[in-house]
Amino acid sequence: MKISSLDAAPATLPQANEPCWCGSGRKYKRCHKKSEGRVLQGHVSPMRSVPDHIARPPYADTGEYEPWDEGRVKSPEIIERMRHAGKVAGEVLALAGAMVAPGVTTEEIDIAVHEAFIERNAYPSTINYHGYPKACCTSVNEVICHGIPDSRKLQDGDICNIDVTGWVGGVHGDTNATFFVGDVDPESRQLVRVTEEATWRGIEAVKVGRPLSDIGRAIEDAVKPYRYGVVRAFVGHGIGEQFHTDIQVLHYYDSRSTTIMREGMTFTIEPMITLGSVNYKIWDDNWTAVTSDGKRTAQFEHTILVTADGADVLTGGPGTASPSAPWAR
Ligand code: MF3
Ligand code: CO
Ligand code: CO
Repeated sequence: MKISSLDAAPATLPQANEPCWCGSGRKYKRCHKKSEGRVLQGHVSPMRSVPDHIARPPYADTGEYEPWDEGRVKSPEIIERMRHAGKVAGEVLALAGAMVAPGVTTEEIDIAVHEAFIERNAYPSTINYHGYPKACCTSVNEVICHGIPDSRKLQDGDICNIDVTGWVGGVHGDTNATFFVGDVDPESRQLVRVTEEATWRGIEAVKVGRPLSDIGRAIEDAVKPYRYGVVRAFVGHGIGEQFHTDIQVLHYYDSRSTTIMREGMTFTIEPMITLGSVNYKIWDDNWTAVTSDGKRTAQFEHTILVTADGADVLTGGPGTASPSAPWAR
């Protein structure tokens, strides 16, 4: 069954065993019933260009990604540049989050993100990254991550994650947050709040000399009382001159995650937490990851620098989209 936004369901729906309203000849329960209440794919507009005066990362023109060996511990000079890229990404995320409201399309948010990065002399890192077409990811309700902004209007009661990454001064800053659209049900509100708390527990577990597995353990401990799921298929990552480097930050405990945190390392922490199953499917756009059971999922992300006494949150600070962050408490 192909679910398309071009199909408009009638006001009165058939019984499960009656023929589907779409005219496929199949029973309703075998056809469009499966998509009830799910996020429908909208129309994705063509890739927007980035003006010539903005410096471009190596993959921007080809969409091909050629990884190279990048040190895990960054020089003070790179760290200064990452501080700036992080600040820019944090500002752009806050501005995108302020647009979230019923009736706004994710494409409108994407255009604002695109323009905001350009105004700050940054290239929106996701554009043409492995061919990805937009300046941010917008992941609504059961979309775990990598939702492509499109013509779908946000609906009252949705939750919407916006993930923005900018490349400026030759380095990336990567951050995301989940926002409420109008009046959101208590179960979803709790999911979002707990996911944000869990992200901060993960950040607080950053400590020189400790293994990366401490981070996943802290996140898992924070969500355990709620019996939420911790997505395993997508992980945090090393970041710097490249968008994704070899460091993998698992959001669940795994004893094999033995990499020791060193002062000057930079990586993201970005847990995806689910109300139900952590299993996922990918839409036929080859990007959008959704929960296999259609239940909702939330995410928050920051780019982190390991310091002598903990973590410096490069994408954080006053005015950024983290209501329970230390600076907002
Ligand atoms: N920003 C995402 C992350 O946190 C990656 C998006 S890559 C894209 O790692 F190609 F899907 F945009
Ligand atoms: Co990331
Ligand atoms: Co991201």
